[in-house]
Amino acid sequence: MPATRRVWPPRDAKPLLVNQLVRLHKISEQEDPRPPEDEMALLWYSNDDDRQAWSAALRRLEPDLDIRVHTDPGNIGDIEAALVWLPPPGMLAGLPNLKAIFSLAAGVDAMLGDPSLPADVPLCRMIDRSLTDGMTEFVLARVLHYHRDMHIYAAQQRRAEWKLHLPRPPFERRVGVMGLGELGTATARRLVANGFSVSGWSRSRRDVEGVTCHAGSEAFGTFLEDVEIVICLLPLTKETEGLLDDRFFRALPEGAFLVHVGRGRQLVPGALLGALESGQLAAATIDVTPDEPLDPASPLWRHPGIDITPHTASYCHPTTAAENVIANLRRLRRGEPLEGVVDRSRGY
Ligand SMILES: NC(=O)c1ccc[n+]([C@@H]2O[C@H](COP(=O)([O-])OP(=O)(O)OC[C@H]3O[C@@H](n4cnc5c(N)ncnc54)[C@H](OP(=O)(O)O)[C@@H]3O)[C@@H](O)[C@H]2O)c1
Repeated sequence: MPATRRVWPPRDAKPLLVNQLVRLHKISEQEDPRPPEDEMALLWYSNDDDRQAWSAALRRLEPDLDIRVHTDPGNIGDIEAALVWLPPPGMLAGLPNLKAIFSLAAGVDAMLGDPSLPADVPLCRMIDRSLTDGMTEFVLARVLHYHRDMHIYAAQQRRAEWKLHLPRPPFERRVGVMGLGELGTATARRLVANGFSVSGWSRSRRDVEGVTCHAGSEAFGTFLEDVEIVICLLPLTKETEGLLDDRFFRALPEGAFLVHVGRGRQLVPGALLGALESGQLAAATIDVTPDEPLDPASPLWRHPGIDITPHTASYCHPTTAAENVIANLRRLRRGEPLEGVVDRSRGY
């Protein structure tokens, strides 16, 4: 998933195309408002994903799938599902028979930021094993990097300094995962499998084997005070925006590490820089930033304690992700509950 995925508002919002859709809707209402029972067209839209790869992956599983694009939507009354990322505002609202919206990304905060998103149509976030595996791999790589003092050796090398730091066993290293959902739980499990001492924090109580689980804002302080490497894998909501602030960094043990892979606006950059300057934080990996792409003038780029990656922790791959989309489409056709439906009141 390219870094540009989360650009908001969408760069290519084209009112003309939306008007075109609404006009087509009006025509189709006069002609044939309802498609035949067995037809279910899927509208595909994304500015950041490979349409050819997605079409091929979907058609490998369902060769006759009727995939439409916004530039040539045909009779829009046929479109009952949309597989999209940041469609132009109003595009989905113009589809009279839309029954489900499938997001091409796991985090749906930007999609929910569109006030024209139809309120009565279920929105499903992306769940994909490649996305999950990619995230667990990225986090494990960063945890191992700090755990094995690679940040220290990189600095020593710049000074041509040969100095050994005795490694600690992983069971002595306390790693905490904020968010124990699809990605957080898999990440916590992978860290446990690598021998780390793992705790987790979520809104409601979770039970993950081998992980000390904390829940709710009242347990946040207890969770943080025992965590040497903290991973943020929370969705962006009203509650989590700005959560990584001065108070957050003060609550961690001195010399802790941060791996931030949630959403950029959860982080207060000034608080991060302050925590690094004071030594409260030893180092941080920042994969997501409040504005993306990160401004070249941002001091985050140049701080020696910060490693920046361009929102690349995890990608969903059409080949594997199409399996979930098709499974959800089939549930939709059978009238069964969909997987990954976003609770809009919670914001994730
Ligand atoms: N950097 C990247 O490349 C990348 C890629 C994909 C996703 N992401 C980010 O990762 C996020 C998580 O994805 P996911 O699929 O794991 O989401 P998810 O399955 O919806 O899980 C979200 C987790 O966060 C917890 N949570 C939400 N609000 C909370 C709060 N106020 N206090 C404490 N816990 C809270 C939830 O608690 P409950 O268990 O109680 O519901 C749940 O455990 C996405 O929203 C996205 O922002 C980043």
